[in-house]
Amino acid sequence: MAQSLNGYISGPNGHRVQISSPEDRERVLKLREASDGILVGSRTIENDNPELSSPGNPSLRKIVIDPGLKLGNSYKIMKNPGYTIILNSRKEHKSRNSATYLDCGSPFDLSIAMAKLNELGIRRLLIEGGEYTAQKFLLEGMVDEFYIFVGNMILPESGRRFPTPLNEIRNVILDVRIMKGGILLKIDPSKFKEE
Ligand SMILES: NC(=O)c1ccc[n+]([C@@H]2O[C@H](COP(=O)([O-])OP(=O)(O)OC[C@H]3O[C@@H](n4cnc5c(N)ncnc54)[C@H](OP(=O)(O)O)[C@@H]3O)[C@@H](O)[C@H]2O)c1
Repeated sequence: MAQSLNGYISGPNGHRVQISSPEDRERVLKLREASDGILVGSRTIENDNPELSSPGNPSLRKIVIDPGLKLGNSYKIMKNPGYTIILNSRKEHKSRNSATYLDCGSPFDLSIAMAKLNELGIRRLLIEGGEYTAQKFLLEGMVDEFYIFVGNMILPESGRRFPTPLNEIRNVILDVRIMKGGILLKIDPSKFKEE
């Protein structure tokens, strides 16, 4: 994920903002190349309508958590739907030519979702946000590595924020890298896990 110096990952009311620098975007593209799937929450699709593509990894699966199936077919991730997976609480339908729908229980259960993605051969999953989605993975202790790029910018209030744990946690920074246009922090994801 990428945040402003004051902790926002989006503009006011969830509007998309470019926080990553060109150098950081290169880093993210490399992560996408090394991943089997890239996952976001439904509101990131609604607000940003990202392509979630990877020129170096055309078979990257695009995965969205959309429990109530509120997203239609007009979003960019549905352009080449054979590579799209909709994790939801309503229907199961596996397909090579259209989008795959995986029923992950009601209420939505991340453990079921991960087991079903594993069955499809998705082992290395890149979670790009937003706040709610990242927070759920972190609180459930399902994150192996967590990087946050802090961009050289300050955003106005009322945007989405860096995922927030239930209680205060300290000593979370494992590594720091100064990059052009910001700082890359490697964070200890295990500190977020709900006991
Ligand atoms: N700077 C960055 O790195 C970055 C990256 C990505 C996104 N963003 C920003 O983040 C904003 C969106 O963040 P957000 O927190 O509002 O939304 P979000 O995390 O993108 O999506 C949240 C929605 O996804 C579904 N969902 C995700 N995980 C779930 C779970 N474990 N169980 C049940 N439902 C789950 C729910 O959908 P339903 O409501 O349909 O049930 C939930 O409301 C966007 O505005 C975008 O600009 C920033």
